[in-house]
Amino acid sequence: MLKIALIGSNGQLGSDILEVLKGENTVFPLTHRDIEISDKNSVKGVLGEIKPEVVINTAAFHHVPRCEREPERAFVVNALGARNLAEVCEEINAVLYHISTDYVFDGKKRSPYIEEDTPRPLNAYGITKLAGEHFIQAIWEKHYILRVSGLYGRVPCRAKGGRNFVFQMIKLAKEKGKVRVVDDEILTPTHTLEVARQIKRLLKEAPPFGIYHATAEGQCSWYEFARAIFDISGIRVNLEKALPGEFSAGVLRPKYSVLENRRLKELGINIFKHWRDALEEFLRMVRV
Ligand SMILES: NC(=O)c1ccc[n+]([C@@H]2O[C@H](COP(=O)([O-])OP(=O)(O)OC[C@H]3O[C@@H](n4cnc5c(N)ncnc54)[C@H](OP(=O)(O)O)[C@@H]3O)[C@@H](O)[C@H]2O)c1
Repeated sequence: MLKIALIGSNGQLGSDILEVLKGENTVFPLTHRDIEISDKNSVKGVLGEIKPEVVINTAAFHHVPRCEREPERAFVVNALGARNLAEVCEEINAVLYHISTDYVFDGKKRSPYIEEDTPRPLNAYGITKLAGEHFIQAIWEKHYILRVSGLYGRVPCRAKGGRNFVFQMIKLAKEKGKVRVVDDEILTPTHTLEVARQIKRLLKEAPPFGIYHATAEGQCSWYEFARAIFDISGIRVNLEKALPGEFSAGVLRPKYSVLENRRLKELGINIFKHWRDALEEFLRMVRV
């Protein structure tokens, strides 16, 4: 039974982490009302009071076009927020789990990125998340940085207007009967419940600290992911390939951001299914 402080507990990923961990641990769910990660005094006050053995941070400023327009705010939350957490975790000797992103890579590799590959972000979101990783690595040894990709979960993403890709596709298909989706960005969409299950496994195994890639198996384009959503849920829709950059909002994004869970596999503790199997499980759960 661990004492865990969970930051962003009402978010898309945080909600599933709370569900998965709460039975076997004492979890302190913290929403944005309870803690402001960019304010060191807030972080120190809240975590100093709880004195958790583990801090899990899912909070970020991660609306990609807004990060591009507001890079200072993105840096304050994603980089300095991570620094605050690392400093306070060191002070209270808590293990820090921090969620990062596939967007730390530029997408030029064209085969799955492993943890040792050199990051080179293309946009303000990726740059500030990478800066957050660096702060944590420099400040506090007892950390797990989990890089995830294309999240979807039963509680939609708060930063993206209360939506995620799966629910958005289904809504558009039902309302318009026609959907356009980009086919030139390859990634691995990942169910948040699977990330939560992986964190549970990491807590149990306590492997070496450091960076871990933590995404579903396989890869697809957003278009292929949309095709699978409609096929599995039996929704008839006219699905078209969008033009390159049609939905980019002027922000550069990696064309290829598939991550290989190399370290988890080497340790024999990778729990992730193929993205299509995880999507089937998700669509059964939410019954759309
Ligand atoms: N969603 C994706 O596709 C994706 C892909 C790769 C990586 N990630 C990473 O995964 C993590 C979780 O994403 P998610 O989809 O679960 O996001 P989410 O639904 O937006 O949840 C984020 C949570 O953090 C809270 N929060 C935001 N800023 C905060 C701050 N400054 N201080 C304290 N709490 C704050 C939010 O509260 P409010 O909403 O009330 O502000 C919300 O509860 C993020 O670190 C993100 O960078 C996400």
